[in-house]
Amino acid sequence: MSDKATLEINGEKYEFPIVVGSENEVAIDIKALRGSTGGVITIDPGYKNTGSCESAITFLDGEKGILRYRGYSIEELAEKADFLEVAYLLIFGELPTQEELDQFHTDIKKHAVVDDDIKKILDAFPKSAHPMGVLASLTSALTAFNPTSVNVDSDEEMYNAIVRILGKFPILVAWTMRKKHGMPLDYGSTSLGYVENILHMMFKRPDEEYTQNPILVNALDKLLILHADHEQNCSTSTVRITGSSHAGLFVSLSAGISALWGPLHGGANQAVLEMLEAIKEDGGDTKKYMSKAKDKEDPFRLMGFGHRVYKNFDPRAKIIKVAADDVLSDLGVQDPILDIAKGLEKEALEDPYFVDRKLYPNVDFYSGIIYRGMGIPTEMFTVMFALGRLPGWISQWKEMRTRKEPIGRPRQLYTGETYRPFKDITNR
Ligand code: CMC
Repeated sequence: MSDKATLEINGEKYEFPIVVGSENEVAIDIKALRGSTGGVITIDPGYKNTGSCESAITFLDGEKGILRYRGYSIEELAEKADFLEVAYLLIFGELPTQEELDQFHTDIKKHAVVDDDIKKILDAFPKSAHPMGVLASLTSALTAFNPTSVNVDSDEEMYNAIVRILGKFPILVAWTMRKKHGMPLDYGSTSLGYVENILHMMFKRPDEEYTQNPILVNALDKLLILHADHEQNCSTSTVRITGSSHAGLFVSLSAGISALWGPLHGGANQAVLEMLEAIKEDGGDTKKYMSKAKDKEDPFRLMGFGHRVYKNFDPRAKIIKVAADDVLSDLGVQDPILDIAKGLEKEALEDPYFVDRKLYPNVDFYSGIIYRGMGIPTEMFTVMFALGRLPGWISQWKEMRTRKEPIGRPRQLYTGETYRPFKDITNR
């Protein structure tokens, strides 16, 4: 392959270096484009062809259905690692030794407390508030209670900021849910594993001991691993671009939570369940909803189908589909929603509209079904996604800051009015 790409504009030729990634992905380095061409830019709405950065964290190949964190396949990680090991791997680049993992967990537990005044902020939200909005606000509010900014050149300060947010975030998640359901707030237990403690904090009733169900712990561990990173998706790009202005870690994460909330991204898991419920209420006619999804005049989309990058299958969906079957049969869950989901999936996989456009079930088609089986309320599904994505966001923020990336600032092609003189209000 040539190491240069040539661009011709108005008979003038410009050369740009070709850069190759470690998995032989090819990119044209256009850093010098504006400077050498006198202001020409590229335009790419939705960034479908644009690499915003170089990154050594996650590799995915949408055609082959490959997803790897730091070189390790998602299949092996989901089977053999636990969420905290995966978090360490993403953030620090290597799987931890037992000693490193124990230390990491001990340090996280040291910070598993939030200022009690956070409860006052939580109190101010109406019960009807969506948990994602509450979580974004509380994550941002953490800055006010932890005002020291992180010196990104200090490994120690970086490490402290990371364990601090990993300790505090699950508390915010649990409190967001408990407040909505009128349950008292508490801080969990330091004697538990990271994921066990999350379940304990979410579900412990004041009047009884909470007994861990290993099926639920395993299922949640796996779900969090599957969601832990996904390279430069909408929320991760938001975290990186927010952090690129040197805004702090907590507010950058809060911006990521807001981006994740949308139904085309993390909000899809809630949207899938709501769609399945609506189909059930409407008599369970999946064919009707298939037709709506294909009708270009109808804004309805089959939620949980399609992916910007995966055009063959979503490897996370494959893993989670098996997990969903196991978990629901282990828990003895009988749910008519499941039959509707299976029916839709079968029809879509055989329908030329979906086959031609390479629209396959994505991770969120199944994750909501498991969360529901686990007793997690529908409006908390996207919050669970955020919990899983936290280490990914942290690692991407850390990479961006330690590589001293410049502030993110895209260009535009202006298509508005050219200059016109101001019109006095009486002449408009
Ligand atoms: N139902 C019906 N038609 C669809 C769907 C769908 N779910 N997804 C895409 N299409 C059609 C779309 O109308 C377009 O058709 P045409 O070529 O005739 O105009 C074609 O497929 C390509 O779609 P696109 O919108 O250009 O594709 P995209 O890469 O911009 O969008 C997506 C990807 C995930 C936003 C989209 O597939 C979608 O809206 N899916 C439903 C929401 C969803 O499940 N999101 C979760 C993604 S996985 C979790 C995560 O990582 O965030």
